[in-house]
Amino acid sequence: MTAVARGPDIADLLAFYASAGVDEALEEQPLNRFAEAASKPPERASATVTPPTGENAALPRSTSLSCAGLGERQAAAPALRAPSATATVPDEQQAALARHLATTAATLDELRQHMAAFDGCNLKLTAKNLVFADGNPNAAVMLVGETPERDEDIEGLPFVGQSGRLLDRMLAAIGLDRTSAYIANVIPWRPPGNRTPTPHETEICRPFIERQIELVNPKMLVNLGGLSANILLGTTEAILRLRGNWRVHTTAAGIAIPAMPTLHPAYLLKNPAHKKLAWRDFLEVKAKLRTLG
Ligand code: URA
Repeated sequence: MTAVARGPDIADLLAFYASAGVDEALEEQPLNRFAEAASKPPERASATVTPPTGENAALPRSTSLSCAGLGERQAAAPALRAPSATATVPDEQQAALARHLATTAATLDELRQHMAAFDGCNLKLTAKNLVFADGNPNAAVMLVGETPERDEDIEGLPFVGQSGRLLDRMLAAIGLDRTSAYIANVIPWRPPGNRTPTPHETEICRPFIERQIELVNPKMLVNLGGLSANILLGTTEAILRLRGNWRVHTTAAGIAIPAMPTLHPAYLLKNPAHKKLAWRDFLEVKAKLRTLG
């Protein structure tokens, strides 16, 4: 008898997609975005942005940027191209553009607008919302997490899911809440399937969080998790070694901000025995707050 070749089982295929982080259907029918982009002439920008100078002068003409909502200062200058729906290859030009947009944001509102208009990070293509910040921008303490997850992506606010509820309890334990703390993430768009962001994606997003810290100018930072600590404290050390010891985050303007790396609430949910370590770290934060007044 001849054996009949069996096609891939649909359940296996779905399991494969899920394990690769593909957990959302964006369209009913698959679209070949590459073919679509190749056949389309580039659109004109609906608004304009200052062409980068200095380190950004080498931006390619194909760099795409949606500029709706950018300030007058930028709107007065010649246009770059409008955004396309194609996947952006993360590269040094996009990082340079991100640096330019971050440094030209004079306020948190402007920074949020620049980030919302920036199309140079692939994570934005699959994210539902920009997750910019929550809490009080005048607070003495700024907490910086890692990447938004599903609930944060849906609401456009950091730490609103299960780990956010734990974070709220940790804050309450030292007398803080979202009116007395400011919360953001190092990566403002949810990576698909909650995967770890690539080094390119991290590098592209870094100028935004650095500028956000500079504009908030908190008295101290709390790094929630290894990714936040590694990106903002310039170290590759593991969070279990870093945590509990004050470090320094230095802004582009040279301002040194004390930073306490600690364990991420999502890690604590899986490793409740380590909550005591985070508790010690939060007591350090409370003590420093007292000494700084
Ligand atoms: N984890 C994070 O690091 N940030 C969030 O906003 C949610 C979960």
